[in-house]
Formats: sequence, structure tokens, C-alpha cells
Amino acid sequence: MLIRSCIDKRVLSIFIVIHAISFFILKSIYTKQFANEFNFESTNSFGTNYTAALVDKLKVKPTTFIEWKQRHHITSYLNNNQKVKVYITKNIEWYDVLGPRYRNNEISVKCDVPCIWKERHLDQVDPEELKTVDALFCVNKPNLPKEKAWKGQKLIHFTLEPKTHCQKCHDKNDLFDIRATFDEDSDIPTSYVRANFESWRTQQPFNVTKLSPNSTFISFIASHRTEFQNCQEKDYSTEKLWDPFYLGVVPVIWGAPNTRSYLPHPKSAIFIDDYPNVEALANHLKYLVKNQSAYLEYHTWRTMNFSDGFMKKLYLNVYNLECNVCREIARLRIIEGRTQF
Ligand SMILES: *[C@@H]1O[C@H](CO)[C@@H](O)[C@H](O)[C@H]1NC(C)=O
Ligand SMILES: *[C@@H]1O[C@H](CO)[C@@H](O)[C@H](O)[C@H]1NC(C)=O
Ligand SMILES: *[C@@H]1O[C@H](CO)[C@@H](O)[C@H](O)[C@H]1NC(C)=O
Ligand SMILES: *[C@@H]1O[C@H](CO)[C@@H](O)[C@H](O)[C@H]1NC(C)=O
Ligand SMILES: *[C@@H]1O[C@H](CO)[C@@H](O)[C@H](O)[C@H]1NC(C)=O
Repeated sequence: MLIRSCIDKRVLSIFIVIHAISFFILKSIYTKQFANEFNFESTNSFGTNYTAALVDKLKVKPTTFIEWKQRHHITSYLNNNQKVKVYITKNIEWYDVLGPRYRNNEISVKCDVPCIWKERHLDQVDPEELKTVDALFCVNKPNLPKEKAWKGQKLIHFTLEPKTHCQKCHDKNDLFDIRATFDEDSDIPTSYVRANFESWRTQQPFNVTKLSPNSTFISFIASHRTEFQNCQEKDYSTEKLWDPFYLGVVPVIWGAPNTRSYLPHPKSAIFIDDYPNVEALANHLKYLVKNQSAYLEYHTWRTMNFSDGFMKKLYLNVYNLECNVCREIARLRIIEGRTQF
């Protein structure tokens, strides 16, 4: 008996030691993986409050594509499956973008943060019901209640219109907590990149030798210069910027000053600003018509990795807006301490 219990104790203690070791190994592997995934320093593996560190990380505004993905990963992880509820205030213009999805429906958004959207006329919503809503989403025209139904409720303003087309869409209204616009500095920067970008890779370059050196397009640029000047706002781009890539042609751009930073590649377009005058630009285009290999240099990006700026625009495009709104509300809930860890 004595021997048996002695063995038992040894076995037991070995068992405990093995378990403890494997626990620490697993924990350190997990911590390291987690740290790698979120680009953390993995020193101080123990004793660090990872939750607090992750919450701190959520307070820093991302700049790169990877940082945005990290923010969303951490948000989803810390949000702990708590549901977000968004009411979109009735506004017909929204339908032009995503179609009449919300009419009388409660939509579960496809998102790593559980989230529902519903469209409502605010003046028809019972005050008690409004208290259950995390955020009110307004498109272009501010259409807001007099006050929030509860302190943590968020008011969101969304527009993809440039100031030149819709000044009132950009009027400062301090009631809003969250802004979603094409501006990278807004809370939820949103682009108009269409999602079929992979087809850009397989698209054959338009055969430019079929153009006459005096083609109408070149003449058009030469004679209509001033019409290109309307929308040079930072970060602004319409779907029109992106469609030429799909068609296998090289866009000639007179756009936002920083457009180059978010194209798939700096040499995927021709920038009017790079030429001292219209004649110089026209001469360059004529040269490209004559020199096939110089022209094809504007298509080599199709086989290369796309730029970080472009990947970010793609990731934060308007078709992912609903989910990105849900994530932003969950993130604010976390950093404001309204989430149980
Ligand atoms: C870790 O940080 C979170 C968030 O700040 C906090 O709620 C929690 O109490 C902390 N845990 C410990 C063990 O300090
Ligand atoms: C473009 O067309 C010309 C003749 O029209 C042909 O010689 C050339 O190979 C074509 N280039 C490409 C890249 O298909
Ligand atoms: C193009 O225009 C130039 C100058 O206007 C003219 O001399 C030339 O013949 C034109 N070429 C063609 C192919 O039309
Ligand atoms: C055509 O373009 C290629 C590539 O840019 C360049 O190396 C070559 O010198 C050009 N040829 C002429 C005749 O300009
Ligand atoms: C292109 O992207 C792949 C996958 O993300 C990466 O492994 C590779 O290093 C990148 N290439 C360049 C030249 O950046």
C-alpha cells in the first residue's frame, strides 16, 4: 500500500508537472501566435494584461491595410459576440447604392460582429424602442432626433459626395459621433472601389496600335482641359476612376492630389499634373501609341502585388460599409467600457 501510494503520488506529481509544462508551452505558443497575429511584442508573456493591451491598441487609429484588419480582428475578439443594432433613418438616396434592402426588414449583416440593421422613420419609433438601438445611421442629409435616446447611443453621418456636389453633406454638425466619408481621416473611411478587382489581372491591355495618333480622345483632352478640374478633393474618387482598370485601358487622371498613393500601382495611370502643359501630355500619349513597350509598362502592375493604399481602399469599400459600421460601434463600446470581458 505504502509503495503504491508512493507511486501514485509520483505519477500524480509527474502528471501535474507535465500538465503544467504543456500548459505553459501551449500558453506561450498561443500568446506568441496571438502576438504575431496582432503584431505585438511578445516579451512579458505573463503578467501582462492582454485585454487591457488590446483595448489600448483599439484606441490608435490605423493607417495601413494590415492595421485596419488588426483593429477589426481585435474588435471582434473583445466584443464577445454582443449584438449591435443600427437603425438607418429613412432616406431614398441610400437605395441607389445598395438597393432596397431594408424596406420593412430587419437585416442581419454578414459580419464578424453580430449586427442587425433596420430602416425606420424616426418620428414613428417609440422612445422605448429607440433606447434599444446602438446607433442611428443618416445618409447625406442630416435627419436626426432632437436628442439621443441614451448616453452611449451613436449618431452616424455617411456621405460619398464631394463638397463641390453637396456642400450640406459636409456641414459640420456636432451632434454626430461617427463620420463615414471618402476622407481617410473620417472615422470609417469608405471608398467606391468595386469588388471585382481580381479580373483586372487577367484583363488584356487594350491594343493601342489600333488608335490613330490623332484620336478623338487625345483631341478631347487638348480642348477640354478645364472640365477636368471639378473634383480635386483629397481622397475623393468615384467608381469612374476604377472602371478603366477593368477595361484594360490606362486612365488619364486629374483627380485628388493624393490619388497616386491609392492606385493599384503608381505606374497604372497617367497623371495630367505630371505634364507642364496640354501639348506635353498629348505628345506623351502619341508617343505611347507609337511605342508599344512603353505603353505596356503601364500594364505591368497587373502581374504585381497591389499597393497598400489600394488594398486599404478595397478593404474599406462601400459594399463592406455596414459591417465596418457595426465594428466601429462595437469598438467604441469596448473602449468606453460597456463590454463584459
Ligand atoms: C485587464 O484589463 C481589463 C480592461 O481594461 C479590465 O477590465 C480587467 O479587470 C483587467 N484584468 C486584470 C486581471 O487586471
Ligand atoms: C496590336 O495590334 C497589332 C496590329 O493591329 C499587332 O501587330 C500587335 O501584335 C497587337 N498587340 C498586342 C499586344 O496584341
Ligand atoms: C494628324 O494630325 C496632324 C496635324 O494635325 C496631321 O499632319 C496628320 O496628317 C494627322 N494624321 C492622321 C493619321 O490623321
Ligand atoms: C520605347 O519604349 C521603351 C521602353 O520604355 C524604350 O526603352 C525605348 O527606347 C522606346 N523606343 C523608342 C524608339 O522611343
Ligand atoms: C507579394 O505578396 C505576397 C503575399 O502577401 C508576399 O509574400 C510577397 O513578398 C509580395 N511581394 C512583393 C514584391 O512585395
